[in-house]
Amino acid sequence: MTRIVIAGCGDVGTALGVRLAAEGHEVWGLKRNPGTLPDTIRPLAADLSRPESLTVLPGGIDQVVYAAAAGGYTPENYHMAYVDGVRHLLALLAQRAEPVQRLIFVSSSSVYDQTAGEWVDEESPAQARGFAPESLRTGEQYILQSGYSAAVVRFAGIYGPGRTYLIRKVQSGPACCEPGLYTNRIHRDDCARVLQHVLGLSEPAPVYLGVDDHPALQCEVLAWLAGALGCPPPTPTAESDRDRNRARSNKRCSNRLLRTSGWTPIYPDYRAGYRALLESV
Ligand SMILES: NC(=O)c1ccc[n+]([C@@H]2O[C@H](COP(=O)([O-])OP(=O)(O)OC[C@H]3O[C@@H](n4cnc5c(N)ncnc54)[C@H](OP(=O)(O)O)[C@@H]3O)[C@@H](O)[C@H]2O)c1
Repeated sequence: MTRIVIAGCGDVGTALGVRLAAEGHEVWGLKRNPGTLPDTIRPLAADLSRPESLTVLPGGIDQVVYAAAAGGYTPENYHMAYVDGVRHLLALLAQRAEPVQRLIFVSSSSVYDQTAGEWVDEESPAQARGFAPESLRTGEQYILQSGYSAAVVRFAGIYGPGRTYLIRKVQSGPACCEPGLYTNRIHRDDCARVLQHVLGLSEPAPVYLGVDDHPALQCEVLAWLAGALGCPPPTPTAESDRDRNRARSNKRCSNRLLRTSGWTPIYPDYRAGYRALLESV
């Protein structure tokens, strides 16, 4: 039995924790308001921005997954969630007698700023500018330089139960879409399975891109959803309506490294994932 802490145990962390607990591991979920965690995840009420609150962490922890999300789109929130919080947690772990055996940081594919629809993988430059990707990259570096057996997982857009933004967009449509713009995604349950997989690898790579098998054009996804929902098809935005000054990220994220390490998605593309989602509501 492994003792695992999920720091920032929200949607993805809870899905992971439930899976790990079902395998017989002892799982703690750390968050400020842990009251709604399922019974199989032990609650830890703590605030990653307040180092003194983190002393509630139990001893003898084997593995840690850092999955906190920023509370809002501001430099302060991002710095707290991905820089200060990581630093505080690492400082606490350094005081413990037994080093953790695996540390995972949940990051985002938004650290890439490729704009030509090209394929990107873990070797591609990750040079997006702005407080959000810069905070994420700082957190990644803290984790990778921690001295523990560590890995970073960069997820693309997460969808799943309760995360139905695109469905609502189509239902309130017709939605607008940008011709030629690729989108990348992964189902919430596959996120949990990626993290579970990386926890179990004996020698993980430093970075994994967590995405399904098929990046898809935004217009194609919205058109498919509109068809499935019986809604009007999306309206492609005219070239003149687009902000030509804005270098919009447009890339196709590859999951080849994850797949060659032995992971397979339950939902290999948006059709499989959204079909399951639509059937469940
Ligand atoms: N949304 C996407 O499409 C996407 C894409 C790529 C990557 N990601 C990343 O995936 C990760 C997990 O996302 P998610 O969807 O599971 O997020 P989520 O449901 O919002 O969960 C994040 C959890 O972090 C906790 N948290 C926030 N600030 C905290 C603090 N100061 N101290 C302790 N806990 C704190 C929150 O709980 P309390 O409020 O109770 O503290 C919340 O439950 C995040 O790093 C996110 O950036 C998301």
